[in-house]
Amino acid sequence: MAARPLIIDCDPGVDDAIALLLALASPQEFDLLGITTVAGNVPLALTQANARRICHLAQRTDVPVYAGCPRPLLRPLTTAEDIHGSTGLQGAVLPSPTLPLQAQPAVPWLIERLTTAAAPITLATLGPLTNLAVALIQCPDIAQGIEQVVMMGGSLGSGNVTPAAEFNIYVDPHAAKVVVEAGLPLTMIGLDVTHQVVTTAARLAALEKLGTPVGQAAAGMLRYYGQLDCDRHGLEAPPLHDPCVIAYLLRPDLFTGRPMGLAIETEGTLCLGRTVANAFPTALAPANALVMETVNAEGIYALLTERLGKL
Ligand code: BDR
Ligand code: CA
Repeated sequence: MAARPLIIDCDPGVDDAIALLLALASPQEFDLLGITTVAGNVPLALTQANARRICHLAQRTDVPVYAGCPRPLLRPLTTAEDIHGSTGLQGAVLPSPTLPLQAQPAVPWLIERLTTAAAPITLATLGPLTNLAVALIQCPDIAQGIEQVVMMGGSLGSGNVTPAAEFNIYVDPHAAKVVVEAGLPLTMIGLDVTHQVVTTAARLAALEKLGTPVGQAAAGMLRYYGQLDCDRHGLEAPPLHDPCVIAYLLRPDLFTGRPMGLAIETEGTLCLGRTVANAFPTALAPANALVMETVNAEGIYALLTERLGKL
């Protein structure tokens, strides 16, 4: 089967970095056209440099990296150094990237790429949705070049930044609203799924056992990452969010979900950034997203360990 044309939009971030490694380790399945970065877990200057560090680590300097929006559409930027550390990739010692940043900013590149695509492109979004929202506003025609959007974001249950909201949606709820209302084929992988994918000691040990620079970097980051998340949410071990998007594209059989009507709260104070999902869509209130609900966590870690072992 031909490799799937893919663009990853992200804010690395430890779990973004692990997701990038999983994609970079899967050249037979993905034709990774580019990585676009956005302000989120840490400011843009760090997310774009971190994406280039990860490409260097994976020896995939053939993948171009673009810097996108430095702040959300309307709100001030909220970052998450408490989870990812001040560098965004706490726990790994990675040299300055040799891969240069592309001169063209991410949004015009997305528009150019999506409007000239020979075959529709899959978008994996792992951070706040600012880049895609701006591209959709500037050029709604990009929708024709999009095969599907698979996003890490949202929650049917509790949030992780506020009781109501998940980080990626909370940081830029207005952008999320633009994307969710664009009528694109959309799959949501939210906290309901990613909180099932936790980095137990045995899973961490399997990555460590790879004994490679990639295995060491991944294990180092994961040892540090998410402990706060774990404590806050009473989980058995820290959750791994963004790699679920890439794993879904590789192995959709590891997930189950159903169509729902998805909307984003942008007005409220208590519920700002809430993903409001109607699990019982009707002809009058139709579904606009496939929302994942369950995941085979053991399968995800087996896939991750097997693929990272190839780098
Ligand atoms: C999301 O927020 C970020 O901190 C992670 O990278 C992930 O994309 C989880 O809520
Ligand atoms: Ca992220």
